[in-house]
Amino acid sequence: MQKTFIMVKPDGVQRNLIGHVIQRFERKGFQMIAGKLMVVSDELAKEHYKEHEGKSFFGDLMGFITSGPVFAMVWEGTNVIDGARHIIGATNPLEATPGTIRGDFGIVTHRNLVHGSDSEESSKREIGLFFAPEQLVTYQKAV
Ligand code: CMP
Repeated sequence: MQKTFIMVKPDGVQRNLIGHVIQRFERKGFQMIAGKLMVVSDELAKEHYKEHEGKSFFGDLMGFITSGPVFAMVWEGTNVIDGARHIIGATNPLEATPGTIRGDFGIVTHRNLVHGSDSEESSKREIGLFFAPEQLVTYQKAV
């Protein structure tokens, strides 16, 4: 079953949107198999966003993602990587479709509330950065 890494960023946590984000994924039918509230260290932030190193916004991105707690999660389901990105919406919240999380709650790219892996390769990498294998709880749904 496909897995993806989803993170409610510091702005989402500050705005009390953790429960709302979880509900959007749950009602779609995806299954959370790991989740934790944590503060991202400088080292972890640099590793997580290493593809953006050298870009003009990298400093702001580092400062922001380490500025307060995030809620890191792993979600599982059929095509969950693309499915999650549809629920989250476009990177720029002003361009994100209404009905998506960013489309409904965001205004600017650098405070876009939620992160979702963009490929199978990045989901494996990001899950491995934030969670130990034994923290992933796979289980069968009763219904
Ligand atoms: P995310 O999905 O977490 O992946 C990389 C992040 O970089 C992205 O969301 C944005 O929050 C941020 N980002 C991308 N482009 C810009 C930009 N031009 N200015 C500031 N932040 C950006």
